[in-house]
Amino acid sequence: MLLTSAFTTLLAISSVAAQLTPARRFGLLEDTRPELGFVNYSPQQKADVAHQAKELLAIYAHEYVKKENYHIDAQKKIAAFEKKAKKLSHKDFHYGLADIFLSLRDFHTNYYIAGPHSCYGFVGPFTFDFVDSRDIANDPHIVVKAITINPDVLRLAKDVVALVQPGDVLTKIDGLSFVDHWKTTQDHTGGANLYGGYRAALGLLSSINGKIYPAPKNNEINFEFSRPGTPAPFNVTVSWITAAKRDCLADAPSGGQAFGASKFHGPKETDIKKMGPIRMKPTSPLDGLDLFPEGDNDLILQPTASSIVQWTVYTYGGANLGVLRLSSFLEDGQPDTSRAEAAFRSLLLNELAETDGIVIDLRRNGGGSLNLADGLPQLFVPDFMPGTGRALRVEENRVLFVQNQVQGEVWAASYNASKPGDLYTKAIQFNTQEQTNELGQLYLKPVALLTDASCYSACDTFSASMQDHGVLVYGEDGQSGAGGANVVEHRSFLQKGAPTIYKPLPFQDVDAQGRVRLGAPDMRIAWRATIRVKKNEGQLIEDRGVITDRVVRPFAADFTKNVADGKDTRYSRIAKELRDWGVHTKTTGLFFQSPLNVTQATTGSALSFAYTSQFIKKLEIRDTTNQVVATAAPSPYYRRTTGQLASSQPASALGRFTYTILGYSGDGKQVLKTKRDSIITPGLDKYVKVAAGQTWTYSKNASAFSAVYNTGATAAPTGWIPSANGIIVGNGVQYVDSVDTSFSVFANVAAGAKLSTTFAYDTEKDYDFLTITVRSVFSGTAPVALFTASGAAQVDKAFDLGVSGNVEITYHFVSDGGVTAKGVTVSMIAIQA
Ligand SMILES: *[C@@H]1O[C@H](CO)[C@@H](O)[C@H](O)[C@H]1NC(C)=O
Ligand SMILES: *[C@@H]1O[C@H](CO)[C@@H](O)[C@H](O)[C@H]1NC(C)=O
Ligand SMILES: *[C@@H]1O[C@H](CO)[C@@H](O)[C@H](O)[C@H]1NC(C)=O
Ligand SMILES: *[C@@H]1O[C@H](CO)[C@@H](O)[C@H](O)[C@H]1NC(C)=O
Repeated sequence: MLLTSAFTTLLAISSVAAQLTPARRFGLLEDTRPELGFVNYSPQQKADVAHQAKELLAIYAHEYVKKENYHIDAQKKIAAFEKKAKKLSHKDFHYGLADIFLSLRDFHTNYYIAGPHSCYGFVGPFTFDFVDSRDIANDPHIVVKAITINPDVLRLAKDVVALVQPGDVLTKIDGLSFVDHWKTTQDHTGGANLYGGYRAALGLLSSINGKIYPAPKNNEINFEFSRPGTPAPFNVTVSWITAAKRDCLADAPSGGQAFGASKFHGPKETDIKKMGPIRMKPTSPLDGLDLFPEGDNDLILQPTASSIVQWTVYTYGGANLGVLRLSSFLEDGQPDTSRAEAAFRSLLLNELAETDGIVIDLRRNGGGSLNLADGLPQLFVPDFMPGTGRALRVEENRVLFVQNQVQGEVWAASYNASKPGDLYTKAIQFNTQEQTNELGQLYLKPVALLTDASCYSACDTFSASMQDHGVLVYGEDGQSGAGGANVVEHRSFLQKGAPTIYKPLPFQDVDAQGRVRLGAPDMRIAWRATIRVKKNEGQLIEDRGVITDRVVRPFAADFTKNVADGKDTRYSRIAKELRDWGVHTKTTGLFFQSPLNVTQATTGSALSFAYTSQFIKKLEIRDTTNQVVATAAPSPYYRRTTGQLASSQPASALGRFTYTILGYSGDGKQVLKTKRDSIITPGLDKYVKVAAGQTWTYSKNASAFSAVYNTGATAAPTGWIPSANGIIVGNGVQYVDSVDTSFSVFANVAAGAKLSTTFAYDTEKDYDFLTITVRSVFSGTAPVALFTASGAAQVDKAFDLGVSGNVEITYHFVSDGGVTAKGVTVSMIAIQA
């Protein structure tokens, strides 16, 4: 639609108004129930949407798994629904579809109840948690964990909040025990296994996401509590409170008069297009609302530059346990995982380097980026092998994978490698082993995870990967949440990937910026299922999840203790057991550190890595052909020792070279495998000299003072290729995913020198960048960007270098996943002084 200037003004005014009006509207469900409208489809639209749901479920990766485990036949259910869809009331249509999706017990496969209903959340004033009991499967014990801190909820629930306190034991829900209550609702709660179901059901006593769940049938819910030291149990009847997002109400189709004209507050197409394989729980209109105190009242954590990584060292009673809290696998809803990865690396090399062991706390982590889940294990385990994925072998997937190549050649080949009659495409890795082992181990001492059944999706993937490589899993439940798939949305993914099959749903129009309305219809599906490797070779994550090695539940007193005391029985236990584990696995005290890269000028220099180690008797460096190029024998090896791991061969070629460092313990066992980069630059005497009045023009014989520097898993042919008079990225048709390549010219230039250069670029706009920088080699200052761009253009320009003397001029190109463009051709590089 066109945005006229008058409309723009209106938008500006309404956004000012939005700042003054609270973002959410609160009310009692008994009052707001009439407003819980649905998008009101015509009979034909109902038939069309039901048909789209059927096409969506046609690629449901867990179809056979759910049939086998829970006797739920998604295809049969949706086929029966499609037949009657036209005749259903709006409510029965939307609730009917929601119910089919919920019955699959899969938080990746969701029907969004379109219309104002999806703007609502339903909340209560108490949050609950499971506490220790003898039989957590059949006799779970539940207490009040916290009372709401939200002023609006407090106001509306003031009669009941005074009656209840943290630590009160929940004995009945609407007259039923928790387990009996769960049995009556398990087909509508969604959790994939017993513990996932329990966690989901427990969560639904505090807050309900109106985007995927029908509103509670009753306006009230009754809880029976008992309080230690109080003789009789007592009953509290809680009124459900609705919290509606105002921007969503303003957007939601079929909101009626009260909701005004349609607006567009939803995500932009471009924001969600490049998420890569995502695994996470659905979002909710309640996201971002502070309902209950954050955290677990167990430890006080320190922040990092990443909003999803926190840490502390647990020291109570002489323990020295590093705690790394990872609250999500997605930072600020963005695909970029670099901040979280950098925070992990930095903590392992600094604040947590001297701990006896580390526990990674993953409780209530609902997942996110698979790349982050696949990228972290290498820091703890050698030769990390990521799990594999597979999709159903159905016509819809043939169109997606083979005809339209929506996931590149590897997935087309995975489809092609299956034959008619197979249920699935051939299982392949989402990320290669090269990509998931770019750096290798940074921490060698014992590591454990702490999970629960709310650890879901990418969190399951990461937990499974770590467990499959021998890492111990502690958990508050018997299993993790068991979300074992990559999820894709109908609108943002499937409609673009296979437009002949997946047609736009009603009310999915977007504004000039590509923003959709909130409350618009959509649905999503578990598309590619994950299969485990190594210790659990061939096991699916879906339904089974990650089986907890050791259950550690909190006690009621944990929710009321003074957290500043720094004592927690569970962390004390984990600290002690990890110490024993370290003795058992002979990893106690193991230590190795060395700078992640070293830059050396060739003149007279040989490869050399400085290191500090302990309990490593022998070190060796191997080059990319696996030849040992240097060894060291730290001595005395049982003490902290420093040294140089150096080769006698002087470096010859310029470039960036990755070496593997291996370490062996006293009994010859490999205890370290990590990678380090050596960056070789020319000696100063080799720099090309461009005196005042001279012009140097790049040609092929410049190898003494120019070179390609490829980072990480970038394979040489996919980075810059120097040719007779220029350099090129891409094969003329397309460059590849995840390239990070630099081409540098080292020159000694007179003052006032310019870089005169001609180039054409065609890169994916806003994602893949060409940058030209110049850096003064000795001043130690950071490179200065002369030019940076994405998209497509031709440039012929002279840039003032702004520095003189020894300089490095660099053409840097970086691409992410899902590449679509041609690349860069630099046809002239000249320095005029
Ligand atoms: C609480 O209410 C439920 C039904 O709403 C009833 O079955 C139960 O006996 C009551 N418990 C107490 C202690 O009053
Ligand atoms: C897959 O098979 C089709 C023919 O069915 C072929 O056109 C295509 O090139 C194949 N793709 C790959 C990556 O093997
Ligand atoms: C070398 O490693 C450090 C971290 O130790 C990093 O900050 C820096 O960017 C790396 N340098 C290059 C050229 O990769
Ligand atoms: C490169 O080769 C050309 C002739 O082919 C020659 O004139 C020029 O001096 C050479 N440049 C360098 C830096 O060796």
